[in-house]
Amino acid sequence: MKLKKIMVIGAGQMGSGIAQVCAQAGYDVLLHDLKPEHIDRGLQIISKNINRQVEKNRMTDSEESNVLRRIQKSTDLHDAGGVDIVIEAVVENMDIKRNIFAQLDEITPDHTILASNTSSLPITEIAAATDRPEKVIGMHFMNPVPVMKLVEIIRGLATADDVYKKIEDLTKMLGKVPVEVNDFPGFVSNRVLMPMINEAIYTLYEGVATKEAIDDVIKLGMNHPMGPIELADFIGLDTCLSVMEILHEGFGDDKYRPCPLLRKYVKAGWLGKKAGRGFYIYE
Ligand SMILES: NC(=O)c1ccc[n+]([C@@H]2O[C@H](COP(=O)([O-])OP(=O)(O)OC[C@H]3O[C@@H](n4cnc5c(N)ncnc54)[C@H](O)[C@@H]3O)[C@@H](O)[C@H]2O)c1
Repeated sequence: MKLKKIMVIGAGQMGSGIAQVCAQAGYDVLLHDLKPEHIDRGLQIISKNINRQVEKNRMTDSEESNVLRRIQKSTDLHDAGGVDIVIEAVVENMDIKRNIFAQLDEITPDHTILASNTSSLPITEIAAATDRPEKVIGMHFMNPVPVMKLVEIIRGLATADDVYKKIEDLTKMLGKVPVEVNDFPGFVSNRVLMPMINEAIYTLYEGVATKEAIDDVIKLGMNHPMGPIELADFIGLDTCLSVMEILHEGFGDDKYRPCPLLRKYVKAGWLGKKAGRGFYIYE
């Protein structure tokens, strides 16, 4: 069956970007969140992104209104009853995700594929909350979604080959590049990236250098477009911490111990760019 209608759950930084690229590719999208104001905030981000494309003559006014028209709002999970695929992008919390997947298993038709945009939680464990683990898969978009080409596609232990193929095809339809990985803590992207970010925060914590100096070393010396401290703020310090905790627990190796300074910032609510303050301050 062809995938036509998509529900995106969570209208935050990632969910709004995913809804945008799906609508731009011509899919009908239901953007779901707990409260209407959360969806409106997501839609504002989408409008701003699309407006920028119109200003740069990459999109016409009528294409813009078509994209926005394809995105409908939802605050009732039962709206998933009519969709072919759900892409979940709520907060990085296993209990919340398992609860949503268990409900979706009841609500959605048998053919519906349930995908998670989790950065690091085991797909196999999320899938075990359903009676259709063969139709559960990881679809890990990168931030910012409209710009970044990669989608890491994570096969859970039970994910069926035809489900993988459909998600690979969908990823290409969205103009993205799929990369297949297996379900191990942090997958590939965060297993490599997050220890680097955590080490950069340790370097700051131990007073080796200022945050600006650490970022300059990595930008200018290693040719990265962003420094690791700046990148941590951009990703969200809560997300960085939860990924490090998952690596630490998943491998049982102290080399993944989250830096106490990262914990402190998260406890303070200084979560990075989305909160207006992280290691840097944002106007
Ligand atoms: N931030 C990144 O760079 C990044 C990159 C790749 C993947 N991810 C993953 O994407 C997911 C979302 O991250 P984000 O940065 O967009 O977070 P975010 O905090 O910006 O957005 C999360 C959204 O989920 C909503 N939400 C929470 N509980 C919900 C529920 N029960 N039902 C419906 N909506 C609910 C919140 O209201 C919020 O709008 C996480 O799993 C994260 O690990 C994040």
